[in-house]
Amino acid sequence: MARLVNLEILTFFLGIGHSIVTQILKKEPTAKVVGVSRSEEPLKQLASEYPERFVYVAGDLLNDDTSKEVIKKTIDTFGHIHGVVLNAGVLEPVASIADANIDDWKKLYEINVLSPLSLASKAIPYLRFTSGRLVFVSSGASVSNYRGWGAYGSSKAAINHLAASIAAEEPGLFSISIAPGVVDTDMQVQIREKHKPNMSEENHKKFTTLKETGQLLPAHVPAAVLANLALYGQGDDINGKYLRYNALELDSYK
Ligand SMILES: *[C@@H]1O[C@H](CO)[C@@H](O)[C@H](O)[C@H]1NC(C)=O
Repeated sequence: MARLVNLEILTFFLGIGHSIVTQILKKEPTAKVVGVSRSEEPLKQLASEYPERFVYVAGDLLNDDTSKEVIKKTIDTFGHIHGVVLNAGVLEPVASIADANIDDWKKLYEINVLSPLSLASKAIPYLRFTSGRLVFVSSGASVSNYRGWGAYGSSKAAINHLAASIAAEEPGLFSISIAPGVVDTDMQVQIREKHKPNMSEENHKKFTTLKETGQLLPAHVPAAVLANLALYGQGDDINGKYLRYNALELDSYK
């Protein structure tokens, strides 16, 4: 696979995002990254470790001004955008559709769908100059049903559709939606400890068993694939698709 030089990668991270950023910085010595997260401490740490190659915006992408600021900071600091990783996700509300609280759903959709949409939309004009890449972090729940997960699953299905729509609309760009597998993050803690009452016994057990048998994925495993796609993703065969991180089609990105 061709190596690119002078990559500037714009990254939106919460959770798995941190691993994506460090892998991009380690893998590709010319890569520069702009991170955005609500928690400033990990961003500060990265900025002191990579003073020449990492800058950040500490803010909430629910506020549209934050995505404007991220784009401006990226262009002002590094001049180009070659890739964007959109890694936003909250699981709650976990409750059946019949019990849907619309305000809770709106909040989830703002975080999981509208925030990535806002950043992607503002990045596209710059990505056209670089034939750049958009990598959306999706979920297996986007294509399967778990009782109580209607809000999360449907929001991730929307993410798959965004990636596909961009592929249809932007001929020079590469856009893909990736399920990272069941990763050992705080979301799994919440599933195990908080959401049992509103999930099916069987689905809940699946997750607790994965934990008990040491089968939850460490974040760095899917993050490696996401980082490689942000750096080098290309190809009509996978452009616009939703794939699991370990799909055969992604062998060259593992
Ligand atoms: C479970 O669903 C009910 C609505 O049916 C909701 O009030 C409650 O907050 C949910 N529990 C959790 C932990 O989200």
